[in-house]
Amino acid sequence: MVNHVSVGLLGLGTVGSGVVRMIEGNREGLQHRVGCPVYIEKILVQNIEKERLVAIKKDWLTQQPEEVLENPDIHVVIEVMGGIELAREYITLALQNKKHVITANKDLMALHGAELLQVAQQNGCDLFYEASVAGGIPIIRSLVDGLASDRITKMMGIVNGTTNYILTKMDKQQRNYEEVLKEAQSLGYAEADPTSDVEGIDAARKMAILSTLGFSMHIHLDDVNVTGISRVTQEDLEYARQFGYTLKLIGNAKKDNGKVEISVEPTLLPDSHPLASVQNEYNAVYVYGESVGETMFFGPGAGQLPTATSVVSDLVAVVKNMRLGVNGKSAVAPQFDKQLKQPEEIDGKFFYRLHIKDEAGAFSAITSLFALHEISLEKLIQSPVDEKGVAEVVIVTHGTNKQQDNRVYNLLRDSDVVQEIKSHYRVEGA
Ligand code: NAP
Ligand code: HSE
Repeated sequence: MVNHVSVGLLGLGTVGSGVVRMIEGNREGLQHRVGCPVYIEKILVQNIEKERLVAIKKDWLTQQPEEVLENPDIHVVIEVMGGIELAREYITLALQNKKHVITANKDLMALHGAELLQVAQQNGCDLFYEASVAGGIPIIRSLVDGLASDRITKMMGIVNGTTNYILTKMDKQQRNYEEVLKEAQSLGYAEADPTSDVEGIDAARKMAILSTLGFSMHIHLDDVNVTGISRVTQEDLEYARQFGYTLKLIGNAKKDNGKVEISVEPTLLPDSHPLASVQNEYNAVYVYGESVGETMFFGPGAGQLPTATSVVSDLVAVVKNMRLGVNGKSAVAPQFDKQLKQPEEIDGKFFYRLHIKDEAGAFSAITSLFALHEISLEKLIQSPVDEKGVAEVVIVTHGTNKQQDNRVYNLLRDSDVVQEIKSHYRVEGA
């Protein structure tokens, strides 16, 4: 019979501090939920002298990983230090030492999740990772448990808080990209290296995790087509507004006839779309199941306490399993072999902002390229730009497929009348 549970943390940064605050600040509530007291035993950090965001007992801190990973008093290890190889090594060791593991690390789970879940199962341990996707939203548990009876065919989400914060502030307050990125970093939303946020990699990792669970097939990070937001400009946001759209970084996962497409890219959403109104660091995931129909999950996607909420919920689940003696039994292997859609099977509408030569015939040369590929145009604006002899053309197409769109893109890029393709985005609502 378990009469108490001791926890070791790997990391005491933004998320780790939130975990300590939640365990220490809600000791009685936690005990009531799991049926025994939960104690913090040790916390691995890089720099023991650093000032901390939360009150801690001095003897909790260590710079020696074995004081957590090989500590016989510790039952559960919470990995909130980030990174890939070291985190993989530490989690593997913890599992081999029969410690249950909770992680918020999507970088790791998207790359090595299958392998680590197997190690967990072989050692009769739980490995839970709710906080790795969409911060405080319990989306993993919803897919694994709540919607387990259904067949999921579509997931669409805003799953990166940093980029949603940046795009919201650029759009609503016309502020510049670098300034807002710095603000997102200071609020603790961004990764240690924010490149993975702004280039869409963080969101791609989360979509790989969600698609693996939702479609029950092993989706690798390389299966996700990724474009980030670092090239989004005020002009793009302005045209989107004029056309009645909002530009968001959208993770899109669709399954048709057993084949899937997964992408993360800046996407124009009609203002009436439920994801268009998701602002700042908030995340939302739309899930369509054949039986349940449309569902939507919304909440804070990053930050200290929202993320810690998911970590501590995993802790509650681990301790309940300990008390029932069922740890390591909940992971289910994917049911289907992976089949990815080809470009001609991927439907979409597309937005182009082009700088073209301001001369006779240039405009019709452009539109005829679309016509040649049977792509009809839904919206079109031409306006002069400051540069002499250059005109700006903005186009939203009707529905086509990615193969046809790629062909037109390449022809536009190589055309004599096109000076530059300034922007090219997907548009939702085909
Ligand atoms: P963070 O603020 O940078 O904190 C990292 C912590 O890990 C620090 O305490 C650091 O020690 C420690 N650490 C790093 N490398 C270490 C090493 N080699 N040995 C020992 N300790 C080490 O990171 P975070 O924002 O809390 O994120 C942690 C994890 O949660 C990441 O996987 C991240 O992707 C994920 N996550 C973050 C959020 C969020 O909103 N921030 C949301 C969801 C998931 P020192 O303090 O001594 O430097
Ligand atoms: N950097 C991530 C984000 C943290 O901005 O969403 C949450 O995973």
